[in-house]
Amino acid sequence: MAVKPDIKYMFEPRGIAIIGASQQHGKIGYTIVDNIVSSGYMGGIYPINPKGGEFMGKKVYSSLKEVDGIVDVACIVIPAKHVRGAVEECAAKGVKFLVIITSGFSEVGNVHEEKEMVAYAREKGMRILGPNIFGLFSAAASLNATFGPKDIHKGSVSVISQSGAIGAAMIGKTKTEGIGMASIVSVGNKADIDEADLLEYFRDDKNTSIVLMYIEGIKDGERLVDVLRETTKKKPVVVIKSGRSKRGALAAASHTGSLAGSDSVFDSIIRQCGVLRAESIQDALDWCKFISSNPIPRGENAVIITNGGGVGVLAADACEKYDVRLYDDLQAMKECFSGTMPEFGSAKNPVDLTGQADAGDYDKALVAAFERPEISSIICLGCETGLFNAEEVSSILRRNYKKYGGEKPMVCSFFGGPSVESSVAKLKEEGVPVYTDVYQAVSCLGAMYSHYRNIKKGYENPEKREVDGVAIGKVVEGVRGDHRTFLLSHEAMQVAAAAGLRTPKSMIAKNIQQAVQYAEEIGYPVVMKVVSKDIIHKSDVGGIALDLENSKEVVEAFESITFNCKRHKPDALIQGMEIAEMVKKGVETIIGARRDSAFGPIVMFGLGGIYVEVMKDVVFRSYPLSKNEVMKMLASIRSYPLLLGVRGEEMKDIETVAETVIRVGAILESCPDISDIEINPVVVYDNGQGIRAVDVRILLTKEEEMDKKEARE
Ligand code: COA
Repeated sequence: MAVKPDIKYMFEPRGIAIIGASQQHGKIGYTIVDNIVSSGYMGGIYPINPKGGEFMGKKVYSSLKEVDGIVDVACIVIPAKHVRGAVEECAAKGVKFLVIITSGFSEVGNVHEEKEMVAYAREKGMRILGPNIFGLFSAAASLNATFGPKDIHKGSVSVISQSGAIGAAMIGKTKTEGIGMASIVSVGNKADIDEADLLEYFRDDKNTSIVLMYIEGIKDGERLVDVLRETTKKKPVVVIKSGRSKRGALAAASHTGSLAGSDSVFDSIIRQCGVLRAESIQDALDWCKFISSNPIPRGENAVIITNGGGVGVLAADACEKYDVRLYDDLQAMKECFSGTMPEFGSAKNPVDLTGQADAGDYDKALVAAFERPEISSIICLGCETGLFNAEEVSSILRRNYKKYGGEKPMVCSFFGGPSVESSVAKLKEEGVPVYTDVYQAVSCLGAMYSHYRNIKKGYENPEKREVDGVAIGKVVEGVRGDHRTFLLSHEAMQVAAAAGLRTPKSMIAKNIQQAVQYAEEIGYPVVMKVVSKDIIHKSDVGGIALDLENSKEVVEAFESITFNCKRHKPDALIQGMEIAEMVKKGVETIIGARRDSAFGPIVMFGLGGIYVEVMKDVVFRSYPLSKNEVMKMLASIRSYPLLLGVRGEEMKDIETVAETVIRVGAILESCPDISDIEINPVVVYDNGQGIRAVDVRILLTKEEEMDKKEARE
């Protein structure tokens, strides 16, 4: 395999050929040449078309062979059936990057040809962007090699879009929103170059201050997670993603699997990577514009300045939603703002200048907030009143933003009639962060704060745990030998114990006498469960008896379980009865781990019982993860207060829950044969008293999938 070319040549090529350059207005091959020529690109431009001639002042070459100059990028705009021949010509010419606009490959089922083309290109030291894309824009080279709109504003936002239509439309939208672009890359089928390759470049690209990605599907999620984690430590990454298929979830055999099929895995994992996930294109563009042109705050203390109580409360609600933390030192707030308002105003946060506030009052309050070092960001709001002169207030905002806007972030929102609307529009044009909606304004500040916290957090080492791999390997070998892909309950318990998890004491009795003997050794009350590889859902067939208090109850349970199982499954082989300690009551949680088809190893945590069944109150993270991330993961479920202790109860052993999550992930990591682990319930006791892993289910990777995995590696 040849050495991969430096991706810098794709963004700053010394020469570009357009294979399929057309003089026919309306063809993509025409628009691309037109855009490249009119974007001011200074490198060599080589239109290729068998007809030859001259086009837009450039010589048209009848083939790439004829071109003398260096061609780093070839933009291919000819029908799919001719693309392979053009790729071969590019290899002969020493082209480094192929920007393949053409559709008609894997997106219509033509997978083999696409794969084969990528393999060929890589062998020849070339890389492919696309196919099925709208092109590439690079401000560094003044190169618009897209068939989207012309005159893209230059700036520091880099966009990666999987959807051609959305990406192209976004170009137009960034223009109307006044957002400056560093790069726009359409990735289409991602046959070769994908988001991770581009993020690696943008991470170190001095022209890019923020990356915006539109994603539809993930191909190599494990690598994307690694690159995202690295990138967001340096630059903010905003992601918009459309829904995720639930098909995989339907086929999954465990809770962890079926819950993981939803969008929540993607959402949890990208947030874990420090990504800012936007719900809408408008939010994403607002965030990009705001973050790329305003300073990062130096602390958490935000203040709201308003002339209306209602809008101040709305903003406080929005702050809670977007996790913007309000400055709450009442004494300092009083010192700072009491001189800026009438007696009946409020210097608490929100600072209420009252309905009689004029531009001068806004000026005093803004200057006070900007000059007070403990205040780190400002939300300035206004409702139109008889005394509110929109033009005067906007000139105060403009002046203060110019003077102080480079020191701390400010967002503004003004609400009112035509004069307010036109002042807002003017300020917007001048780049002052002003919005007609309070939530829109606060969401921008919230995104900025997520980025601030992410940078502040820095890199955290993932936690690793040693598990007894030999013991786990032996259990798995036995299961494989038995041609099963699920572990029996006692086998799964052995695996859990080998990872250092506390399981209930248990033994397998082969007959009634042994059952009584083991029950006495363990101590009453005990639980009895049938052991049979033919019976997976034990409770459905009456294969479990709880709370057995004495030998008489053990004998009766043994007989009734045997009877029930024989009746429901006459041909089931009953291998014995598991006698286990009856676990004391505590808070029931669920902890799982699985190999996600997109993201690789993930761990799951939730409260058990109805919380997982009905409310789906679970959370996922990519594994491995730091201790701090695990603690945050636990705290992020809605029912977390149950672990903190409600109604005077003691706090539960959250530390051991975190340790269990890490160890469950470590089991998966230690044994490639294991695909799913689920412990449900993990009963959690009061602080310091640990947990009990009561019911452990483990599934093995199907052998054919193991073969596929090995082949890939
Ligand atoms: N080398 C150079 N030029 C070639 C060539 C080759 N090997 N083979 C053909 N050409 C020329 C053609 O003669 C034609 O030139 P002309 O206009 O002077 O006659 C030009 O290249 C284009 O070829 P044509 O056959 O007219 O194709 P087209 O312009 O109708 O369509 C694509 C080409 C690539 C645009 C089309 O196949 C396609 O894939 N469209 C979808 C693109 C898309 O939507 N991408 C995803 C966006 S998100």
